[in-house]
Amino acid sequence: MDKLPLIKSLVEKLALNLNVPVSCKIRIFPNLQDTITYARMLEDAGCSLLAVHGRTRDEKDSKKLRANWGAIKAVRDAVRIPVLANGNVRHMDDVHNCLKETGADGVLSADSLLENPALFAGFRTAEWALGSEENFEDGKLDQADLLVEYLKLCEKYPVPWRMIRAHVHKLMGEWFRIHPHVREDLNAQSTLTFVFLYDMIGRLRELGRIPLYVKEAHAEEIYANGTGP
Ligand SMILES: Cc1cc2nc3c(=O)[nH]c(=O)nc-3n(C[C@H](O)[C@H](O)[C@H](O)COP(=O)(O)O)c2cc1C
Repeated sequence: MDKLPLIKSLVEKLALNLNVPVSCKIRIFPNLQDTITYARMLEDAGCSLLAVHGRTRDEKDSKKLRANWGAIKAVRDAVRIPVLANGNVRHMDDVHNCLKETGADGVLSADSLLENPALFAGFRTAEWALGSEENFEDGKLDQADLLVEYLKLCEKYPVPWRMIRAHVHKLMGEWFRIHPHVREDLNAQSTLTFVFLYDMIGRLRELGRIPLYVKEAHAEEIYANGTGP
């Protein structure tokens, strides 16, 4: 973001020489006009799709700092290419609100998906379901189910164990907070195996499962889509 002419020439060169569309992802500047100028520069350079993370470079803590959807809307209104909005998408209500507020063509979510990969299927964690004004019910799916699904994929398509370990912590963080001795046991393993992890999931389930939730009225709709159990 300090070298806009360099970014411009990179995108121009890519757009000219590649036979696939060039997409870009940006953070916003503290000043709205700078952000708009940046977005227009990318569009003029040949960018075909622009994702806008509605936080500045200094706004690192995405859990604490709300993304600026107003700035994303301003970019959406200033360019002709499709815009994807990014930041503060934690469940499907955020998706709908973000699309409505920003006018964006789609949304991106990152951090929340690590904890709840079923977010876009309409499931939400207890954090966003309990205490909400609407009624939620057990979605008959939980993070242990998703972890099993993930591990089976890892068995089929091997990835480094450090990545698997990181995903296990993100996915099962809520369960570990309630059963910290299981996390300590995991941390004590210098090398991991699938046998250990499947056994750990079994132990966590026995200690008490934590469901993912769906809106009462939407449960049937989700199951009818085939995304439920
Ligand atoms: C595991 C992880 C990897 C990421 N990798 C990239 C990346 O390679 N390039 C990038 O522009 N942003 C990356 N991000 C940032 C996200 O795309 C996103 O802009 C940011 O997390 C804010 O969205 P969120 O509030 O939904 O998390 C990554 C985020 C996470 C959690």
